[in-house]
Amino acid sequence: MKRIVAEQYLAHGGALVNRLLSPVFVEENNQRLLPYRFVTVDEWTLSDIDCIGIGAFSPLKGFLTESEYDSVVEHMRLPDGTVWPVPITLAVSKEFSNLAIGEKLVLRGEDGKNYAVLTVQDVYQPDKKREAIQVYKTTDLAHPGVAKLYQRPPFYVGGSIQVIQRPQPELFANYYYTPSETRDFFRQLGWKSIVGFQTRNPVHRAHEYIQKAALEIVDGLFLNPLVGQTKSDDIPAHVRMKSYFVLLEKYYPKNRIFLGAFPAAMRYAGPREAVFHAMVRKNYGCTHFIVGRDHAGVGDYYGTYDAQHIFSEFTQEELGITLLFFEHSFFCQACQGMATTKTCPHDKAHRVALSGTKVRELLRNGITPPPEFSRPEVAKVLIQGLRERVK
Ligand code: ADX
Repeated sequence: MKRIVAEQYLAHGGALVNRLLSPVFVEENNQRLLPYRFVTVDEWTLSDIDCIGIGAFSPLKGFLTESEYDSVVEHMRLPDGTVWPVPITLAVSKEFSNLAIGEKLVLRGEDGKNYAVLTVQDVYQPDKKREAIQVYKTTDLAHPGVAKLYQRPPFYVGGSIQVIQRPQPELFANYYYTPSETRDFFRQLGWKSIVGFQTRNPVHRAHEYIQKAALEIVDGLFLNPLVGQTKSDDIPAHVRMKSYFVLLEKYYPKNRIFLGAFPAAMRYAGPREAVFHAMVRKNYGCTHFIVGRDHAGVGDYYGTYDAQHIFSEFTQEELGITLLFFEHSFFCQACQGMATTKTCPHDKAHRVALSGTKVRELLRNGITPPPEFSRPEVAKVLIQGLRERVK
């Protein structure tokens, strides 16, 4: 493919971070790590390690120190003022509270593999109630993000990391691009404007509508589904991936879409997570980012458009990415097409409206949702995938 040199968009905070050790050092390092203490990290933390390592969380080079954490929790910024709304922390049990500054700590996966080495900068005890209120706007343990926060061990360790190896996904491993790779691809494709799309769901008609509306004004769409840990009733990532393939094959122009997995876990922090998602997509090389209704929300914890309003707390220059906000979209029987209240004059009664819970229930029972809600090809993959999961 012809290489086109286009202007390189800056990563968040300046330069793209790369904390991946070259494979040459990996063997050597495994020997060197033997004298160090190790902590076993869960799937959620492992995905954070991966995102830090590849630079998706630029400018973070590791897990937040106490002063960074306080600043993020209170002001949605790192101490130098860089926008950063979600604390990325390494939680450890009391036995690690005596780690010394400068000590190396090996971050080991539940599979027994060493994934990273952290150089300890500090160990501190967070006020989880404050974190819950500030980040999630609730202390309700029924909120999956809050539940996770309280389940985690009580101490946080701050410090930069070096990643020994990336976790190897069982499926679709070749869709786990680094931001430097996606930036390269976008350049090769000649795309100057790229809209990022976050999703933890299959792409239903409403998603397709807002993606295609955005595609009318930019060169390419980066479909970047979150594939890290999600709550148990969300559709599993590998099933969703299959559904994206059939959808893209049949309904999207091939040269305008780029599909890549976002390895992070879902926090369900609504507005704050929307800002976080936008910053990450900027790192992957996006110039635009879509925020629709109740982005990264769960239950009724956030107002429908809170995740759009929050961006007014920052300047365009600080964000460094253009936000594309969309109203709640739906299929209107009277319009005979997808619409929002901005474009449709008809009564609510004409809308094909289904809640996420209702759709999942239909799919689990093998019932195809109406084509106005979901493409039949997508529904078929989802029904099949959920059936296999039950077996
Ligand atoms: S999220 O947790 O990743 O935000 P989801 O995958 O459902 O959940 O949403 C992906 C994006 O599409 C988000 O920006 C969300 O706001 C938007 N979105 C989802 N459904 C609709 C809808 N019916 N109308 C407008 N925007 C929507």
